Amino acid sequence: MNVLVVGGAGYIGSHCVRQLIAAGHRPVVLDNLVYGHRAAVAPGVALHQVNLADEPAVGKLLRDEAIELVMHFAAYCYVGESVTDPLKYYFNNEVGTLQLLRAMLAAGVKKFVFSSTCATYGTPATLPIVETMPQAPINPYGQTKLDVENALKALAVAHGLSFAAFRYFNAAGAAEDGSIGEDHTPETHLIPLAFDAATGRRAQLEIFGTDYPTPDGTCQRDYVHVDDLSRAHIAVFGQLAKPGAALFYNLGTGRPTSNREVIRAVEKATGRKIKIVEAPRRPGDPAALYADSSKAQRELGWKPKFPDIDSIVATAWKWHAAHPGGYGK
Ligand SMILES: NC(=O)c1ccc[n+]([C@@H]2O[C@H](COP(=O)([O-])OP(=O)(O)OC[C@H]3O[C@@H](n4cnc5c(N)ncnc54)[C@H](O)[C@@H]3O)[C@@H](O)[C@H]2O)c1
Repeated sequence: MNVLVVGGAGYIGSHCVRQLIAAGHRPVVLDNLVYGHRAAVAPGVALHQVNLADEPAVGKLLRDEAIELVMHFAAYCYVGESVTDPLKYYFNNEVGTLQLLRAMLAAGVKKFVFSSTCATYGTPATLPIVETMPQAPINPYGQTKLDVENALKALAVAHGLSFAAFRYFNAAGAAEDGSIGEDHTPETHLIPLAFDAATGRRAQLEIFGTDYPTPDGTCQRDYVHVDDLSRAHIAVFGQLAKPGAALFYNLGTGRPTSNREVIRAVEKATGRKIKIVEAPRRPGDPAALYADSSKAQRELGWKPKFPDIDSIVATAWKWHAAHPGGYGK
């Protein structure tokens, strides 16, 4: 299929582009490079530096490239910033997505794969999290994603849009060949921060909260490999053939991993010791978040190839060791 990958110069989108090529599809990238990296886009793949909210430009691109399906990874993703500057998030993540969808419908493109998030669940009452649990985001970032999910449901009914919304847990890792990896500015994710602390690019690493009701007192999260996420996006294509399909899937390994376990995995991969500073809890950080992904496993035949933190961190280290400054400027 001809697939428009919106946000395809970003972390997860750029990995998905490579998986699309490996699966025999033809990706085209749209990214305004506000956070993405030109060098992350696979060689030979067209990169259109366009804002997703630019309906005329997006419409032209959809028609010119005969796009059949749109994958939408583009968003602002900083939870803290979404609290202090919510309009930035509502406009880009929500209004921008609605404009993208309007351009798609006008061009007759009715297949859509959306990057949603476990942040739509807020603080879950029980674990693991299943798709049918109530969604009650506790920050504007999560709210914008939930609002888009709801808009997609309405568009499926009104216009026969077929969509899959994947609720990712913590994306991590890098391409197995070490060609691309994670490079966010600013970086807030634990694994790349831990590499920086291990390699001396940062003096130390803060752990926020050591008194949670978890086995070692630190928060537990569900780390899922970026290529495993990407494979689910392609595995869903068959389900989108039915007009009006409205699909929601959690994507995680289902394995809770604590902050201390992540740090141990990074120390093991790098062979270096990390200086840790124990800091107070951050407001709004649930003690544990991990997925029940059995729906994706059952319906899409999806199975994570990287089931544990050591295998995920090993791929991330291969990229990070060769690119300590990320993609550079
Ligand atoms: N990384 C995670 O752990 C995680 C977890 C849950 C959900 N998600 C979601 O997955 C998606 C991808 O995350 P990521 O980590 O790859 O983020 P990223 O910042 O690396 O990639 C996002 C890309 O979108 C582009 N972009 C942003 N606004 C744009 C606009 N208006 N027009 C065109 N391009 C635009 C950026 O330049 C960037 O290349 C996001 O929607 C995020 O909310 C990520």
